[in-house]
Amino acid sequence: MKTELKKPNKNSIEQACTLLKSGEIVCVPTETVYGLAGDATKGEVVKKIFMAKGRPGDNPLIVHIGAMEMLDGIVKYVPEDAKKLANAFWPGPLTIIMPKGDRVAAETCAGLDSVGVRMPSHPVAREIIMKSGIAFAAPSANLSGKPSPTNAADVFADMNGRIPLIIDGGESDAGVESTVVSVLSDTPIILRPGIITKEMMQNVLGKEVKIAKAITEEVKKDEKVLSPGMKYKHYSPNAQVILVKGDFDRFKSYVALNKSKGTWALVFDGEQDKLNVPAIAYGCEDNPKEQAHQIFSKLRELDKVNAKVVYARCPSADGVGLAVYNRMIRSAGFNVVEL
Ligand code: TXA
Ligand code: MG
Repeated sequence: MKTELKKPNKNSIEQACTLLKSGEIVCVPTETVYGLAGDATKGEVVKKIFMAKGRPGDNPLIVHIGAMEMLDGIVKYVPEDAKKLANAFWPGPLTIIMPKGDRVAAETCAGLDSVGVRMPSHPVAREIIMKSGIAFAAPSANLSGKPSPTNAADVFADMNGRIPLIIDGGESDAGVESTVVSVLSDTPIILRPGIITKEMMQNVLGKEVKIAKAITEEVKKDEKVLSPGMKYKHYSPNAQVILVKGDFDRFKSYVALNKSKGTWALVFDGEQDKLNVPAIAYGCEDNPKEQAHQIFSKLRELDKVNAKVVYARCPSADGVGLAVYNRMIRSAGFNVVEL
């Protein structure tokens, strides 16, 4: 299959809508990361998404809507907490897990009786949803296990020959995927951290929001998890990533002692030239939003330079930083060194 790469304009958006309506899948830019979109109500379409990504069939997809009216049939009902959260944060980078509606294909939710829904804020994603009238299922547009793509070139690297069309909407704003929150029990629980933080949701709901254990701790084999995505290896470049906790001076000595051929460092701005291994920076140490914006593209850059082993500086896990920390520790396969 030939994969076309097009800038968003009247023609390309129309082409994307036509493809979606005829049961094809298309790559669409969103404000978080690029998504691989297909009609969420059609099982045979959703199967194409799983195929293109090489994604395990038991890991459910998120359904994207353009307006509240589209929730009809997508969810069984809208819980009170979901109403408040949607009101505060939609359109935007928040996915809410709700009871599944009848119109959603079983394949989309991997057989679960719940469904994750979000209303993206990216103008191109919104236009495609509203013009096609299709609520699309869309996982991140990477091959399963790889870092999520935040620009069209990174999508092309993974999806060339697998899908007909990629709409190039420039660099993704957030850079990490949406916050996933479940409102299925009285105390909402965050299943994946993102730009919308626990504190922001607590402020809106006026009650406690919990954080799932699997966000910071490794899931044991056969352990039951609330979100199937948490048990898979994820966000990994080809290189072996080791997350190093400790200040910069200790980091520097540790890397000097352990370096070999193909060793790289993933550091904060201004630290690159202070090491005796090559390094890539992923933002200022005190700016988690900037780190989130860059982390996936920097992990992919490490593959382009053929890094074999990467020692990474550990981000702070506060606020938006938790989203960055979660992606880092998973890209490292929970391989952490504490100095
Ligand atoms: O920002 C995003 O959310 C991007 C863009 C494209 O919208 N999409 C995305 O999708 O990151 P994906 O498939 O890569 O991640 C979806 C995550 C997975 O960890 C999955 O396990 C979880 O959401 N999830 C989806 N439906 C769920 C459900 N019903 N219950 C629990 N977890 C669910
Ligand atoms: Mg993903």
